[in-house]
Amino acid sequence: MIYILLGLPGAGKGTQGELLSRKLGIPKISTGDILREAVKKGTPLGLKAKEAMDRGELVSDDIVIGIVKEKLQSDDCSRGCILDGFPRNIPQAEELDRIDGNVFAIYINVPEEEVIKRLCARRVCPSCGALYNLITNPPRDDEKCDRCGTPLIQRDDDKEEVIRERIRVYREKTEPIINYYRERGKLVEVDGHGSINEVFSRLEAAL
Ligand code: AP5
Ligand code: MG
Ligand code: ZN
Repeated sequence: MIYILLGLPGAGKGTQGELLSRKLGIPKISTGDILREAVKKGTPLGLKAKEAMDRGELVSDDIVIGIVKEKLQSDDCSRGCILDGFPRNIPQAEELDRIDGNVFAIYINVPEEEVIKRLCARRVCPSCGALYNLITNPPRDDEKCDRCGTPLIQRDDDKEEVIRERIRVYREKTEPIINYYRERGKLVEVDGHGSINEVFSRLEAAL
């Protein structure tokens, strides 16, 4: 089974995906993380993706579909996987159905005011990818990663004007895929209010 995490930027796809991955023992594939890694390394893929990401726009379908196809064919994913950040528009959802139709979407529903607050306070570990929030999920030691001690950073696209553009793009391009999966009976909605553990308990119950 391929689980798909859906929700606004900052809804908790990465956070919940990590917990679900540990519980089910299957990998989480985040197209955003893969693209950011490519940007950091300055690979040809990264160079192509950077401009769109910095503006909060979607990277081209060809690029992300290529990434996901390759990952899904790898041995790691033989028992299934969790997709975080893909599909992100109807053409990507249709393409995924052609690759593997055994999918189930989890829509984490959080209001817009809440995600803006969360994203402004988000910090990430550039070394191991751990996620923090200065308000709701702070590191033990002042802005250093609990797991590996690396100083935490803010994502380039977590600036207020880029956050607003990401939300606009989500409403226009990504939101329609909620109905795409709902109409096919392949979607569950989870209330994303409350603590990380409260949301995860709801998610487990919903599955
Ligand atoms: P991507 O990396 O996917 O970003 P996003 O969708 O904007 O989502 P985020 O990662 O910002 O949020 P999240 O839902 O993972 O929340 P998180 O768990 O971190 O994409 C980035 C860019 O890459 C795109 O703009 C696009 O350019 C490109 N891209 C990626 N995929 C693509 C695709 N398929 N096609 C085309 N382009 C693509 O949580 C947020 C914060 O809140 C954290 O600080 C966390 O600690 C905190 N938090 C989480 N849960 C809770 C809670 N319950 N209570 C309080 N705080 C919480
Ligand atoms: Mg994320
Ligand atoms: Zn770390």
